[in-house]
Amino acid sequence: MSQKRWRVESGELGYEELLALSWGWRPSLLLLEASRAGVFDAAAGGWRTGDEIAAALGANPRAVELLLFGLAGAGLMKKSGARYRNTDAIERHFVRASPEYRGAILDLDRRAVNNWGHIGEVLASGRPIPKPEQTEEEKRAWQETFIRAMDALARLHVEEVVGALPQAGGMRLLDIGCGPATYLIEWLRRVPDGRAVAFDRPASGDTVLRLARTAGVGDRVEFMGGDFTLDTFKHGGPFDVTLVSQVLHILGADGARELLKRAAAATRPGGVVAVHEMALGPDEHPGAAGIFAVQMMLGTAEGCVFTDAELRALLADAGLTVEDARPTDNRSRIYLGRKPV
Ligand SMILES: C[S@@+](CC[C@H](N)C(=O)[O-])C[C@H]1O[C@@H](n2cnc3c(N)ncnc32)[C@H](O)[C@@H]1O
Repeated sequence: MSQKRWRVESGELGYEELLALSWGWRPSLLLLEASRAGVFDAAAGGWRTGDEIAAALGANPRAVELLLFGLAGAGLMKKSGARYRNTDAIERHFVRASPEYRGAILDLDRRAVNNWGHIGEVLASGRPIPKPEQTEEEKRAWQETFIRAMDALARLHVEEVVGALPQAGGMRLLDIGCGPATYLIEWLRRVPDGRAVAFDRPASGDTVLRLARTAGVGDRVEFMGGDFTLDTFKHGGPFDVTLVSQVLHILGADGARELLKRAAAATRPGGVVAVHEMALGPDEHPGAAGIFAVQMMLGTAEGCVFTDAELRALLADAGLTVEDARPTDNRSRIYLGRKPV
C-alpha cells in the first residue's frame, strides 16, 4: 500500500521542524521546474557534463551547472566528478520518452502550486480561485493531462481498491466519475465476461477508451459522457457493482448524498455500491486528508473532506449497509455498501 505520496508529519511540530517545513518547498520546485525545462530529458541515457546538458537544452551553461548541483543535492540526479545522470526513478518515470513516463502528476502538482500561493485571497473572499482562461484546445490538453495524472496516482493503490470489489464471472460494473477508469479496467481483467460502463465528462471518453483498448478490455467497456450531478445511470444497468471513487469530496455533503442515492438506484438489489474516498483522521489529527481539504477550499465552491462517520452516514442515507471499510493508502478508505434484496 502506498504510504509515501501523501505523508505528513503527525503530531505537533517543534521550532526546528517548522523551519525545515518553511524551507522544504525548494526540492519540490526543483523537481517540478527541472522537469518542465526538459533537464531530465536532456540528461537521459547516461552520464553527461553540464555543458552537454546545457547544449541539448539550448540553455545558459552557468545556470545549468548550478541547477545540476541542486538536483544532485536533492537526490534527483547522480554526480560523478563533472558528469551527471538521472537517478533510476527519474529516468524511469520523468523522462518523456520513457514508456513508464508519469510526468502528468508533476503537471498537476505544478498547477496546484499556483493555487496554493493564493490562500490569503480565498480566505478573504471564500470563493475558489478562477480556473485559468483556456482555449478549447488547451482545455482538451489539460483534461488529457489530468486523466493521465489520475491514472498514475490510481496505480499506486489499484490492488487495494480492485481487490476489495466483488468479482464473479459475468458481473456488470458502473464507474461514476471514472477518470482514467484504472480500477474499472483492472476489474475487467480479473472478471471473465464482465462488462462495464465508464461514466465521466464527455471530454474523458477518448482517453478512457484508448486505455481500455491498450489493456485488452476495450470490447467490454462502454463510455457514457455526461454530468454525474444529473444522470440517473440507467444505461447498461442495473449493475452488480457501482464504484464511486474520489468523487464525493467534489460535491459537498448534499450533492454527495444525492449522488449516492442515484448510484444505489442504479445498482441491483443485493449488489454493492463501493465508495472510495478520503477520510479525515480522528479529531486530534486529521492527517493527509486534512491537507486535501485546503485543495478543496482553493479549487471548489462546495467541495469538502468527510470523516469516516460522515461517509458511513451518507451510505446509510442511500439505504446501503456498510459491510466492509478498509484503508487503501494513508488518506483514503474504501466502503462497501450492500443494497438490500
Ligand atoms: C478526482 S477524479 C477521480 C477519478 C477516478 N474515479 C479515480 O478515483 O481515480 C474525479 C473525476 O470526476 C469527473 N467529474 C467531475 N465532475 C463531473 C461531472 N459533473 N460529471 C461527470 N464527471 C465529472 C472528472 O472528470 C474526473 O475524472
